[in-house]
Amino acid sequence: MQEFEVVEVASKAFSDQKPGTSGLRKKVQVFQQEHYLENFVQSFLNVVLKDEPRLIVIGGDGRFFNLDAIQTIVEIAVANEVPQLLIARDGILSTPAASHWIRKYQADAGIILSASHNPAGENGDFGIKFNGANGAPAPEALTTAVFETSKSISSYKRAKIEALDLTHDQDILLNHTHVVIRDGIEDYVHHMAALFDFDALRDGFESKQISILFDAMNAVTGPYAKRLFLDALGADETSVINAEAKADFGGGHPDPNLVHAAELVAQMNTADAPVLGAASDGDGDRNLILGKQQFVSPSDSLAVLLEHHKLLPQFSEGILGVARSMPTSTAVDRVAESLGIDCYETPTGWKFFGNLLDDKRIQLCGEESFGTGSDHVREKDGLWAVLAWLTIVNSLNKPVAQIMSEHWQRFGRSYYCRYDFEGIASDSADEMITALTKSVTSLADQTFGNYQVKRADIFEYTDPVDASEAKNQGVRVFFTDGSRVVYRLSGTGTVGATLRVYLEQYQDASGDLQGDAQVVTQELAEVALTIAKVNEFSGRTTPDVIT
Ligand code: G6P
Ligand code: ZN
Repeated sequence: MQEFEVVEVASKAFSDQKPGTSGLRKKVQVFQQEHYLENFVQSFLNVVLKDEPRLIVIGGDGRFFNLDAIQTIVEIAVANEVPQLLIARDGILSTPAASHWIRKYQADAGIILSASHNPAGENGDFGIKFNGANGAPAPEALTTAVFETSKSISSYKRAKIEALDLTHDQDILLNHTHVVIRDGIEDYVHHMAALFDFDALRDGFESKQISILFDAMNAVTGPYAKRLFLDALGADETSVINAEAKADFGGGHPDPNLVHAAELVAQMNTADAPVLGAASDGDGDRNLILGKQQFVSPSDSLAVLLEHHKLLPQFSEGILGVARSMPTSTAVDRVAESLGIDCYETPTGWKFFGNLLDDKRIQLCGEESFGTGSDHVREKDGLWAVLAWLTIVNSLNKPVAQIMSEHWQRFGRSYYCRYDFEGIASDSADEMITALTKSVTSLADQTFGNYQVKRADIFEYTDPVDASEAKNQGVRVFFTDGSRVVYRLSGTGTVGATLRVYLEQYQDASGDLQGDAQVVTQELAEVALTIAKVNEFSGRTTPDVIT
């Protein structure tokens, strides 16, 4: 057994360790500062050690600084005598796979190193997020407690151990801590095999009824996708692209949307495109679904999954309920209504689904921000969504475009677009939201072009399970024709503020259902920018990204 010393290191507290929508995200250089990561990890342990955790899961999306961070975390956890650490081989563990591990091995917590879809590399972003014993992102109470602790921490414990070799599975005993290193992919693949009918999918690939082009965007899902689509399902070798998990994500921006997955989108627009095109993000929890010359908006994707849920083996007996984040379109609400099941509206952030899933109020949920998932884990799950779509396409034996048009003919269509204004000075963005918030009560009945405001409000949420409250979750403006605009500031950026403007324009089944969403929502967008005085406050007239 390795002999080592445990030291108590004096440090100085940082004031900026407040986690955002999904963990603490900062530039790599910020995390590289002396004591920065150490303080944060010790603060987390100070909070959770009170409950005497037995096992903590550790892994990340493979980005630059991932392995260094894992070594640091292990040194601190060993010094704090955490009994067991389950660490992913090569440090590679997607966010949904981490959630699965926590649940499967009944871990008490997980530490996931990722800044999701934010660019990686020496000058990119890094992040750390905590999950609880149910596998879900830590609730607000826990992250707040960690933040409060971090503001006054003055020292941390560190074990002076040798650098861990994470390249192969092994068990190491370090005093009171049992360190277990295992492949972070295999259990996840088994879980998917238990949820889906792999024989039927294999037959579909063999008979060429289905085919796929999956873009792993040089991030964590590459090795997962190869084992799933190529090894387990027998898809053609060329079906997975950008499949190597690179430390700098190949210099790209692994956000699976129409702008950043341009290579995939171009290929799906060619005559010989496969049946399904898909992509995932840096840490594997987001998904983009495309058909041949057909984009499926995340809001519509959720609605279609619910419409055809009986084709998914896990819901063959029916489904208890669904949820969507508030800015997500109301497409899924209409399907839920037709099925007579509950549809919950939550604030942005996957953590708000956790209680609803645990309480069995819902089994399927999703967000406009390219997140879809079910009760099989407590994170959104990019590859699960792709397998669900493959199953539906295989069972219906129809092109994606036809599945979409049949859905709209039945339920009408929520034309949907999101405008992002990035890098706005934080003060200006705050002033804009404050002014907008103040104007909410006077907006009713005002007319802007062809749009008359019906009502406006600030979205608030009371969790139906534990009665916890979330205030100020975005400004909503509803119009008399059924359209809606939502404004909120992003909680995941690392530079300045990002304003998100969400546009939804409903068209019932009697009208044109095949329009271009960006064109259809254009006038509504102009109205939205006028109402919030975006130009006045930010000096901006055009968004950086439209999805
Ligand atoms: C992360 C969370 C999602 C959330 C998204 C919102 O991806 O996991 O649940 O929807 O952030 O990001 P934003 O930048 O809009 O706060
Ligand atoms: Zn992500």
